[in-house]
Amino acid sequence: MISIIIFINLVVVVVVVVVVVVVVVVVVVVVVVIITIIIIIMSPSLFPSNPANVIVDRMRYSAADAFKAQTFELPREASEGVWSISANFEGSDNKYSETKTVEFEVREYVLPRFSADLKINTDVISRNTGWVEFDVTGKYVYGRNLQGTVEMQLGTWDENDGIRLLPERYGKVLEKGNAKLYAMMSKVFPEASEFPEEKRLYVTVNVTEAGTGENQTLVDTTTILSHPYYKIDFSASDQYFKPGFPFTLKAAIRSQAGKPTPSVPLYAVVIFKDKNGNRIGKKKTYEKADQSSNLVKVYQVSEKTEKMEILVGVLDWMRHVFTDYKHFPEKLKSGTNQYIHISMEKPIGVR
Ligand SMILES: *[C@@H]1O[C@H](CO)[C@@H](O)[C@H](O)[C@H]1NC(C)=O
Ligand SMILES: *[C@@H]1O[C@H](CO)[C@@H](O)[C@H](O)[C@H]1NC(C)=O
Repeated sequence: MISIIIFINLVVVVVVVVVVVVVVVVVVVVVVVIITIIIIIMSPSLFPSNPANVIVDRMRYSAADAFKAQTFELPREASEGVWSISANFEGSDNKYSETKTVEFEVREYVLPRFSADLKINTDVISRNTGWVEFDVTGKYVYGRNLQGTVEMQLGTWDENDGIRLLPERYGKVLEKGNAKLYAMMSKVFPEASEFPEEKRLYVTVNVTEAGTGENQTLVDTTTILSHPYYKIDFSASDQYFKPGFPFTLKAAIRSQAGKPTPSVPLYAVVIFKDKNGNRIGKKKTYEKADQSSNLVKVYQVSEKTEKMEILVGVLDWMRHVFTDYKHFPEKLKSGTNQYIHISMEKPIGVR
């Protein structure tokens, strides 16, 4: 009897505990749901939503942070279809602006069977550029060389005119996963026509796999069209000379695309003239650009010098480019036409 009563009491206690736990859990869930709904209703800002129009995340940023790019992570099991990201702005008056939305599509990613790559052997094409090599390589994802064909078309591109394709097509069969196509630039941009200065070369290549016909299109606009190939910048050089003082010439030699060309052969000519315009001195030297692709030289300027003319030229035998640029530093004007000459040679005397 006693043991049965104790047993019944135990059952009652267990039931009560279970009921309490269930009630607590239900209350917590309800509170969480209510808070979530409140947050969703109250919060401004950014929220990605999925194709079922379920908002999957909300973020709130300060205005300063929101102007930077934000990264959103898709859930692992993201459903396919059109997703969107919406944003609105909450002003200091707590009013929300109109919501802006961008859409994007989530689709299953089908692994490509191959990858292809294009390399061009120059960064700038100028009037005197000869053959340009377009090197296409293809590999299956499992590592073997791609078998197939390559088709290329050239054109020009710039922000205003967009793409202008030229009619010629170049084609080749991949050998050991590689095809080198060549185009003669004097034919692509004939002398008779205007050189498309300040544009970029537009290169489009279709790579087609032999077995399946699967294809990829590569596009490259990294090569600039500019004449001449080189530019020489004298802005780091002395802009004034003082008769009787040394003058430092600094020339930065770069391709028009900004590529340094260390050790490229150069020549430098400096002509000094007097007040009647007569040549009173000339220095001509052959140099090489240093490892930073600059030329730095110091010239002694005689007292009588009124005018200096500097010419630095590039002698690029490889590219058949011979370009020179001039620099005309001015004589430094002093109000009284007097200069203080300071030189320190030896200790003048020790007391
Ligand atoms: C590449 O293929 C597309 C069609 O898929 C075609 O319109 C384009 O002209 C092709 N380009 C070349 C260089 O063959
Ligand atoms: C590339 O493949 C697509 C279909 O996937 C086809 O429509 C197109 O014509 C192909 N282009 C070439 C150049 O074979």
